[in-house]
Amino acid sequence: MATIDVMISADEISNRLDALAEEVAAALPPEARTSPVLMIGPLKGAVMVMADLARALHRAGVDTVMDFIGLSSYGAGTVSKGTVTMTSDLSIEVAGRHVLLVDDIVDTGRTLHFAQAHIAARGPASLRTLVVLDKPERRVVEVPVEHVGFTIPDVFVIGYGTDLDQRYRELPYVGLFRPDSDS
Ligand code: IMP
Ligand code: MG
Repeated sequence: MATIDVMISADEISNRLDALAEEVAAALPPEARTSPVLMIGPLKGAVMVMADLARALHRAGVDTVMDFIGLSSYGAGTVSKGTVTMTSDLSIEVAGRHVLLVDDIVDTGRTLHFAQAHIAARGPASLRTLVVLDKPERRVVEVPVEHVGFTIPDVFVIGYGTDLDQRYRELPYVGLFRPDSDS
């Protein structure tokens, strides 16, 4: 058994996403309004924020379409392997689109660095990046992230897309996993 301490509540996340959606809307050039913004999420951590952010952007008056890219950097456990591999590619044309790269968390920066290079090579009209959680202390690769939900210390979190061996992504909040000492 283990205890999960709530670090960022579902309400806090929801309110912050509404504010971020307004930020994203304000940053879009006027001509970007003529076609939907292409949201791109690395699987599987981005799934939760993609769904909630797409609806927040809708409320902010921004049309979107979604695509996903399969990227893997962590094996089992909590330590990054340090290399990023692509397990499935994008399916929507990126060239000429205004792209919003969306992820659950930026840690070393390797995953987003890989994703940004992959997208940039396809000639988007613009590329901005949004993450729910930022752990700046852990950065190894500098990556531009224009929209950050919450800056957190160097702790291992679960929930709202982030996982421990694929579990806990469905938690509506961001939590700290505390293994029980007597187990
Ligand atoms: P990167 O180190 O910035 O490349 O992050 C790689 C991936 O590690 C993220 O997309 C998450 O899936 C995962 N990750 C980083 N920090 C945490 C954490 O605290 N909990 C769960 N997953 C994490
Ligand atoms: Mg991820």
